Amino acid sequence: MHTMRHRKNTLLIAGATAATLLLAACGGNGDSSDNGGDAAGGGEGKTMRLALNQTEEHPSYIALDNFGTYLEENTDGWSIDVFPNETLGAQAEALQLVSDGSVDMAIVSGTQLENLHEDFVVFNLPRVFDDVEHQMNVIHDPEITGDLYSVLEDSNSITVLGGFTQGARSTYQTFGPVESPEDFAGQKIRVQESELHIAMAEALGGAGTPMAYGELYTGLQSGVVDAAENNEVSYYTQRHYEVAPYWSYTNHLVGLDYMIINTDLLESMSDEDRAAFDEGWTAAHEEHTQLWAEATQEAIEGAQAGGAEFNEVDDAAFAEALEALAEEFITTDSQQALYDAARAAAN
Ligand code: GCU
Repeated sequence: MHTMRHRKNTLLIAGATAATLLLAACGGNGDSSDNGGDAAGGGEGKTMRLALNQTEEHPSYIALDNFGTYLEENTDGWSIDVFPNETLGAQAEALQLVSDGSVDMAIVSGTQLENLHEDFVVFNLPRVFDDVEHQMNVIHDPEITGDLYSVLEDSNSITVLGGFTQGARSTYQTFGPVESPEDFAGQKIRVQESELHIAMAEALGGAGTPMAYGELYTGLQSGVVDAAENNEVSYYTQRHYEVAPYWSYTNHLVGLDYMIINTDLLESMSDEDRAAFDEGWTAAHEEHTQLWAEATQEAIEGAQAGGAEFNEVDDAAFAEALEALAEEFITTDSQQALYDAARAAAN
């Protein structure tokens, strides 16, 4: 399916310029609106380019690749070519490319969408979701998310379809284990590009340094940052345990990845193909959730075999430190309504 070998070393070809070159090499740029755009929405499909920042071993790649196969078998010519490892750019670039229509779909973290619309901040808060099951119930409940998922359509031509869990995120350090927020004093914690998460790093006791995912291995190795926070699957598949071998279970939030698609492209699908697309997507996120627990276990074992050490922390101290963030970052009625709906769905 791929005409080009995806590179493991994304540093060489990350970024918007490289993405443009790659798109040209793949035979076209910005052609999504040429496909199936007749008034009845009954055109033939296309192979959609999907930007992902994970490796081919990651559950997101596996579920998305299977989603593509499902589309090939059940639609009139639609399929997905998943580009892993930031080969179409880091998430901030991918977001822009989907908005332009030069990339069709992407998986982007909730933190990226927070930068386009303030309502997305709610699901990026520490402790808004109790666990993966609670999160998946909330984010795939149209009564809760209906308005949120279409809020970027007019402004950015981006439709949100739902998402994949990032699981529980904890911190990991180059310098040693942490047990309470005091242990982060004077340490730089890499966070995603989000105001909320910069504030979260401070609440955890350190200083937040925003950085793209693909730069983090080098960031930790060179000492630009002293710590990071993620799930075990990313810790292992990105090999961060090699340079930051102390994992501390802060469990500060259950992270969320959104599936986004260019709105014009989505609207160009025939009714039949759209129905199959929705079915395939539901199967994909359900498969992802199933793969997640096993991948997490494998990641813990793999990282341990590679020398990583895992420790428990003072939960109460971190919980107290994080408590004020919800109040600080929920400032509108619409955010409050989303927050209340999410909390009401908890057990
Ligand atoms: C997780 C998540 C990614 C995100 C990354 C990060 O791996 O699935 O979407 O980009 O964390 O911390 O940047």
